[in-house]
Amino acid sequence: MSNILTSLEDSSFSCSCAKEMINGGIDGHLNDCSVRNLKSSLNDDTANVKAPKKDPLPKDEEDFLKAVFQVILEDGVRKGRDITQKVVDFHQPDELRTLLDLEIRDTPEDHQALIKHMKDTVKYSVRTSHPRFFNQLFSGQNTYALAGQWLTETLNTSQYTFEVAPVFTIMENVVLHKMRDIVGYSGGDGIFCPGGSISNLYALNVARYRYMPDIKKTGLFGLPRLVVFTSKQSHYSIKKAASVLGIGTNNVVLVDCDERGKMIASDLEAQILRVKAEGAVPFFVNCTSGTTVLGAYDPLDEVADICEKHGLWMHVDAAWGGGVMMSPKYRASRMRGVERSDSITWNPHKMMGAGQQCSAFLLKHENLLQHCHEAKAKYLFQQDKFYDVSYDTGDKSIQCGRKVDVFKLWLMWKAKGNQGWHEDMDAVFDKTRYLVEKVKAREGFKMVLDEPECSNVCFWYIPPSLRGKEDEADYKDKLHQVAPKIKERMVLSGTMLVGYQPLGNKPNFFRQVFSSPSVTEEDLDFLLDEIERLGEDL
Ligand SMILES: Cc1ncc(COP(=O)(O)O)c(C=O)c1O
Repeated sequence: MSNILTSLEDSSFSCSCAKEMINGGIDGHLNDCSVRNLKSSLNDDTANVKAPKKDPLPKDEEDFLKAVFQVILEDGVRKGRDITQKVVDFHQPDELRTLLDLEIRDTPEDHQALIKHMKDTVKYSVRTSHPRFFNQLFSGQNTYALAGQWLTETLNTSQYTFEVAPVFTIMENVVLHKMRDIVGYSGGDGIFCPGGSISNLYALNVARYRYMPDIKKTGLFGLPRLVVFTSKQSHYSIKKAASVLGIGTNNVVLVDCDERGKMIASDLEAQILRVKAEGAVPFFVNCTSGTTVLGAYDPLDEVADICEKHGLWMHVDAAWGGGVMMSPKYRASRMRGVERSDSITWNPHKMMGAGQQCSAFLLKHENLLQHCHEAKAKYLFQQDKFYDVSYDTGDKSIQCGRKVDVFKLWLMWKAKGNQGWHEDMDAVFDKTRYLVEKVKAREGFKMVLDEPECSNVCFWYIPPSLRGKEDEADYKDKLHQVAPKIKERMVLSGTMLVGYQPLGNKPNFFRQVFSSPSVTEEDLDFLLDEIERLGEDL
């Protein structure tokens, strides 16, 4: 008690009712007092502190920040979105080292030098906001998301307690609630994680904890062999998570996919029965909604039936394809049954363009995240705080400090409304259709999948020298070398970036992915023209 009294008397924030509290007992006055404090801070954001008048932002630092903002706006944003600029000014690592002044010295450098370093950093970085950057499952640049990122960086807080992140804590609650509503969970819980891989790791960890809560204290010793099921075309993060959590990659069973890349539900059930017969314990099925390469959506309803029958946790990795839930037009045909899952990974930083990183892990179950991860650190999550400590959500996380990922998404959502998302997602899927038709109609181009389900358009470019030679023994080997060669030329010319990969026994093919609604039909025509230009002599 005496500590509290001292701190109340010392504090610059001590309220006018502190004396009343001391005299009349704390409990009776706590709420009145905190409400009054809150009201006064709402009306007036200056603290009651006597200090000499001094601008906290020195003139030279203000000038520096203004100059930085110009670099960001002109070099980063305007040029970054400009079709006439290169997507990348590529240099091999050794050469790049000579082009940049990376040395850290004993003496400080002046503002002019720092601005030059910033400009160089932009110059030699990849312009992922460029309309012709198609390389990754993220692209484009949303102005409001960007504005949100700037403010988040400026406020530089950590999303663990209401105390240091009051606005972001309740904002995170609101946004996660909204996302769960869209998934179709009533109630439940969630958290923003640093990426889809970590969200998938959360899924495995909470699922295992639900079945075996003792594991938190006793660890892996004495546990039966636990087995995870995921499709052959699912993301590698499932295997990584199994390895990190001590489940072991040998205990990740890869379920067969059909020719479109979708998990075959009957094979899933056969594998579950096989594993049970071996005496192991199946506990977790990962479905993918939007596989990384082909963009396949696993049959959620069928998998949900199997999970219910065998009592398994059903997780949906919708890191990439989850954006389709924002489109009433395309959602049902892709993600019917998602509401039956136990948990989902959904990355707004991918198809929804919210900026790196923004990944939600959502689950149907309440309190599980908290119980599974809480460590109850007394220096951070004190239970005798003067506000409702259920708003200190940080102990649900496996991290301590946690970056604020919600604000950019919230601001973007405010700027678009639900309607804007419907339009954006429809635009993404409509552009996909446009490209599919163009690829099908064009000589020398061949679709890997005739009808992609997500916004992944996978195709081969077959140079004139290989056309009509499909039956020759070395055809596949030669075709396999085409995409990497075109990619090399593409990177060196800097005109655009698009990814390629092999898949199973399929030789290298291009994967064009759409995650930005601002890609135009001209950009897509350019993509095909450019691949042809770069590869027709091969
Ligand atoms: C299906 C799928 N799941 C998970 C991930 C991992 O997401 P992140 O890169 O945010 O960790 C990816 C990444 O591409 C993905 O395609």
